[in-house]
Amino acid sequence: MEMKLLFEPRAVAVIGASASPEKIGFRIVENILRSGYRGCVFPINPRGGEILKLPAYADLADIEEEIDVAVIAIPAERVLSAVAACGAKGVKHLVIITSGFSEVGDLETERRIVQSAREHGMRILGPNIFGIYSAASSLDATFGPGGIAPGPVAIITQSGALGIAMIGKTATESVGLSALVSVGNKADIDEADLLEYLADDERTRAILMYIEGVKNGDRLARTLSEVTRRKPVVVIKSGRSKRGSMAAASHTGSLAGADEVFDSVMRQCGVLRAESVQEAFTWVRYLATSPRPPGEEAVIVTNGGGIGVMATDACEKHGVRLYDDQPVLAEAFSDVMPDFGSSKNPVDLTGQAKAEDYGKALTAVLKEDRMHAALALYCETALFDTERFAGLLREIYASYRDRKPIVFSLFGGERIESAIRDLRGEGIPVFGDVYEAVSSLGALYRAARREQEGPDAAVALNLPIDEIHRVLAGARAAGRTFLLAPEAAQVAAHLGLGMPRSVLARSLDEAVRAAADIGYPVVMKVVSKDIVHKSDAGGVALDLESEAEVIDAYQAIRRSCLAHVPDAVIDGIEVVEMVCPGVETIVGARQDPSFGPVVMFGLGGVYVEVMKDVAFRAAPVGRATARAMVSDLRSYPILLGVRGEKRKDIDAVADVVVKLSHLIDRCREIADIEVNPLVVYAHGEGTRAVDLRILIKQPKGVS
Ligand code: COA
Repeated sequence: MEMKLLFEPRAVAVIGASASPEKIGFRIVENILRSGYRGCVFPINPRGGEILKLPAYADLADIEEEIDVAVIAIPAERVLSAVAACGAKGVKHLVIITSGFSEVGDLETERRIVQSAREHGMRILGPNIFGIYSAASSLDATFGPGGIAPGPVAIITQSGALGIAMIGKTATESVGLSALVSVGNKADIDEADLLEYLADDERTRAILMYIEGVKNGDRLARTLSEVTRRKPVVVIKSGRSKRGSMAAASHTGSLAGADEVFDSVMRQCGVLRAESVQEAFTWVRYLATSPRPPGEEAVIVTNGGGIGVMATDACEKHGVRLYDDQPVLAEAFSDVMPDFGSSKNPVDLTGQAKAEDYGKALTAVLKEDRMHAALALYCETALFDTERFAGLLREIYASYRDRKPIVFSLFGGERIESAIRDLRGEGIPVFGDVYEAVSSLGALYRAARREQEGPDAAVALNLPIDEIHRVLAGARAAGRTFLLAPEAAQVAAHLGLGMPRSVLARSLDEAVRAAADIGYPVVMKVVSKDIVHKSDAGGVALDLESEAEVIDAYQAIRRSCLAHVPDAVIDGIEVVEMVCPGVETIVGARQDPSFGPVVMFGLGGVYVEVMKDVAFRAAPVGRATARAMVSDLRSYPILLGVRGEKRKDIDAVADVVVKLSHLIDRCREIADIEVNPLVVYAHGEGTRAVDLRILIKQPKGVS
């Protein structure tokens, strides 16, 4: 496997190793030695001598052994020649710590470094990183504070400073690491490469990624889709407010802010997105150590009513289902429940409960096969001896930790706080805040559901791609980056999108005949390349119900357009079927700068930009995913039918989403395609694509 030797090198050279303790090259050698690395370490320094009691080599070529990893920590201007020397030596992986390349605008040197490495079959981690820690070989090749404890969590981080700070955090939060990798500028190795290794690494039970910018987003998405079926991945991404570069080109573009697309694609890939570093840590620690729930039914045990209600609300928000079979609940807690308590879930033992009652109730949940996870909440009372209580939790956790998920949330004064610290230090999932406890259990449920999902069904759809390519080629040959209405109509016909019927009339007679053929009411629109804003020029007439109205409109449109643009060449007047009112939606697809082809569905109409009620997915999608996009919307109830209205034709909507997603995937020269509005009728009555706009990419070399 390609990354194996990066994580499990047999020998490491440190180029720029130094005997001066204030230098990064010293800290790296020191950390490698202190972490108990099992392979050989070779410090490289032009002066030779000794570094931390190891003989230093003046030249890499002097070493006889094979070197799998060379860590490079020398000034930027010397890196390229060091890379060439590594190539000559047959090094497999370079870990380039040095800063001062693409992140400060020097793309060229970085490109040459990558090229030189590729010529020698080497892979590069970095540059601009703090290094790599790998528990598989007990290797801490970072300049961090050292003392990393091995454990089940892998961290991949794009931020160096945050990554180094995370080392300290893992110690205070008692999170052990299987790996910690800094990816920096991602000149070569990126998250997808590392995930492939970590997915197979048995030590790694959960992965945390901190991402700032995505490169090769479509590969990352494919890899994440696979990995999350095997182990949970939690992502924190900064830069939430960035907007896509094509923002103004279409609704799809302006709604496809970088974050909206990132968020949707991550969810599609089964990734858990955390709001903060703290949340990510909390989740990942729990996910890495908890058994998966044997079923969906959780039970809350509490000695406080209020906290029980808070937990119930949080369960709803985080998708944790509460067990609801009342006779079973009543029976299970009959011998511990005071008269004024409640065995309904939340099981409320009240402030009267003693530590023993609490322990019995919790044990009852954990023993009962029909109850699958326990949320144990406790508010400090005078009746509980905190120390005895902590001991009780320890015992219960030790007995059931491998069988069912448990989360504890304790609330109280200093004694409780100190108990929380102690219990956490022992790796027991105790939280000071009920929301943290529930959100961790929710994350576990989401991860477990994902792990049970089968592989994505292959999506295949036959589209007349050659015919569509021909239409696009025509527009390109004419030097355009957009399709004219008749060309768009041809594409719509090839896709089988129901567009309103339309005829181009070049005379009044033709207009009258066209209206009769199409059937009243009709709409009339001027067709002229000289008139861009048709409505402003009086070039549109709506809801024409009779021959007389068509005749009037025909003459009025010509007159007012010529008054607006006196020498306009009018090709004719388009007579179009008037679309009956329905629910207006929007379906778009585009080439996203990070993730490649993506598809969007949203509620349309004039407020689309304000409501931003849209869902994105990486394209292509199948019907199930398209239907999930529809049900993701806040306004989904409108499509289900409100106030006695009929359910709308959701299958027909999904059909359009599927088609556009396949088209954008197979015709990469389409930059952006949008049906707006797509009017949706009652179930079985289909949709009408009122307008279809297609933008194509500039041919190369044209700006
Ligand atoms: N091969 C081997 N050793 C070399 C060398 C070469 N081609 N060129 C120089 N060296 C030696 C130097 O002699 C020096 O050893 P010495 O202390 O015995 O004199 C050592 O390598 C380091 O070189 P120096 O010039 O002292 O550089 P430095 O240690 O001040 O800085 C970096 C080097 C890489 C740390 C610095 O350029 C840098 O990029 N810092 C930022 C790192 C960073 O923040 N990364 C991102 C973190 S998220």
